[in-house]
Amino acid sequence: MTPDRTSPVALVTGGSQGLGLALVRALDAARWRVVADARHGDVLARAVAGLAGVTAVPGDVTDPAHRAELAAAVAGLGRLDLLVHNASALGPSPLPALADLPVADLEHILAVNVVAPLALTQLVLDELRSAGGTLVAVSSDAAVEAYAGWGGYGSSKAGVDQLAAVLAAEHPDLHVYAVDPGDMNTAMHQRAFPGEDISDRPLPETVVPALLRLVRQELPSGRYRAADLLAAVPA
Ligand SMILES: NC(=O)c1ccc[n+]([C@@H]2O[C@H](COP(=O)([O-])OP(=O)(O)OC[C@H]3O[C@@H](n4cnc5c(N)ncnc54)[C@H](OP(=O)(O)O)[C@@H]3O)[C@@H](O)[C@H]2O)c1
Repeated sequence: MTPDRTSPVALVTGGSQGLGLALVRALDAARWRVVADARHGDVLARAVAGLAGVTAVPGDVTDPAHRAELAAAVAGLGRLDLLVHNASALGPSPLPALADLPVADLEHILAVNVVAPLALTQLVLDELRSAGGTLVAVSSDAAVEAYAGWGGYGSSKAGVDQLAAVLAAEHPDLHVYAVDPGDMNTAMHQRAFPGEDISDRPLPETVVPALLRLVRQELPSGRYRAADLLAAVPA
């Protein structure tokens, strides 16, 4: 069914593949209106073709002009019920030890994973608060575990966790979640394990029901693991 002007609105970064696209598809199926981005506009356009409620806004979340376009697209829809910071940078592949991580790469990881989500949040916070909405920041187990090679990405995801926690403290009118989706069979995961067969990892679609529990605001603001959320979802 086609969404109408009363349908809820979501902004999902990184919506052209992987977990972002799986979530965009699920929201579209539930008659949400969705604004989604990704850097490769052709891939994004193909991914969301046929999804009636989806507005594709190609661009890079680190670009202030692109973030302004995302905010304008949301403003055009008149409300914002859900903001999902999903787009993410892994850093160099294979993953280098911190001793060998070029500082410029760390700066880029932080720009994509930490600075851009906060900057985008600031642009759309009023609409999100007006709706009593939900913010989901996609984190990782690398935020809390010390895996060799994951120091740049992991420190950025620790920053994501703390942004979400402080936003929750500052905005009790919102539901603010950091969520660790667990390993998934995606392009990013393949880049983390180049040359390895990752086909045993779950597909990103299997994580979406966990995200939808958060969207339904069933739980207080906080940090959650998708595996724990899924354990409580009826089969
Ligand atoms: N896969 C896992 O095992 C795993 C585990 C733990 C956490 N996570 C987290 O889960 C989330 C989704 O990961 P995924 O595995 O689904 O990744 P993915 O398959 O690589 O997809 C990433 C998406 O983000 C977009 N993107 C990347 N950089 C962007 C930028 N600067 N601006 C705008 N869009 C950008 C990509 O499109 P373009 O390339 O066209 O920009 C793509 O649509 C990420 O936050 C990741 O850190 C993943």
